[in-house]
Amino acid sequence: MTMKIQKLTPKIGAEIHGIDLSRPLEPAEFQTIHDALMDNLVIFFRDQSLDHRQQMEFGQRFGELHIHPAAPSVPGHPEVMIIHADANSTFVNGESWHSDVSCDTEPPMGSILYMRTLPDIGGDTLFANMYTAWETLSPPMQTLLADLTAVHDGENLYRGRYTSNDSGRIYPKATHPVIRTHPVTGRKALFVNSFFTTRINELSKPESDALLAFLFRHIETPEFACRFKWQANSIAFWDNRSAQHHALWDYYPHTRSGTRVTIKGDVPV
Ligand code: SIN
Repeated sequence: MTMKIQKLTPKIGAEIHGIDLSRPLEPAEFQTIHDALMDNLVIFFRDQSLDHRQQMEFGQRFGELHIHPAAPSVPGHPEVMIIHADANSTFVNGESWHSDVSCDTEPPMGSILYMRTLPDIGGDTLFANMYTAWETLSPPMQTLLADLTAVHDGENLYRGRYTSNDSGRIYPKATHPVIRTHPVTGRKALFVNSFFTTRINELSKPESDALLAFLFRHIETPEFACRFKWQANSIAFWDNRSAQHHALWDYYPHTRSGTRVTIKGDVPV
């Protein structure tokens, strides 16, 4: 069966039809999926049937798997992160614009989320194009940002989030360029996010706060984004180097549940 790639918006997102991800990918299938991810920043698949091992094997075709520094995982599979919300939840994962675990020195290149249980309505995920976020800034703003670096601090998000018993635990913290160059496409992308980026190093605190507030608003521009409506057994695979995402929690008290594998990345430059 040939794969069909259907774009969701001009800027970001495509659905891929005609592939069964539970079986090993042929080299040509791998290349098509890889190239579709590079072109569209996030790709979606419907009606997949994968166990944890198969989800890991799909992720491993793209690189070594990452272990989340804080979130719970499936017993026996530390690489398989649990994404779950129900009537007892006090928060959900990803409920603000972010790039996954950007506080790592080598932040993940991509994440593959497989959702098994969805509410009847709601629980969509938004994805936004960070190349466009960079390209739509004015030349003077681009000049200002080009040489800046920023702190990404896991403490900002993770402390007390998954357990109240994390005293003494050290969460990742890293400095990254505010604008990164994608290692595959060579394109520049804005790389600050509201979950982890706490400070622009070269500016005073008031200047840093004001500039980050502006950039966090800029990232939310609707024209940069697509909105994915999940169904049971859908998969989203996003590139954390060029896209940010935001999971909507508009379905409380209903249940939304799945698993994520995350692929290791490299030092942003
Ligand atoms: C996440 O991995 O940030 C959660 C995304 C989602 O639940 O849609």
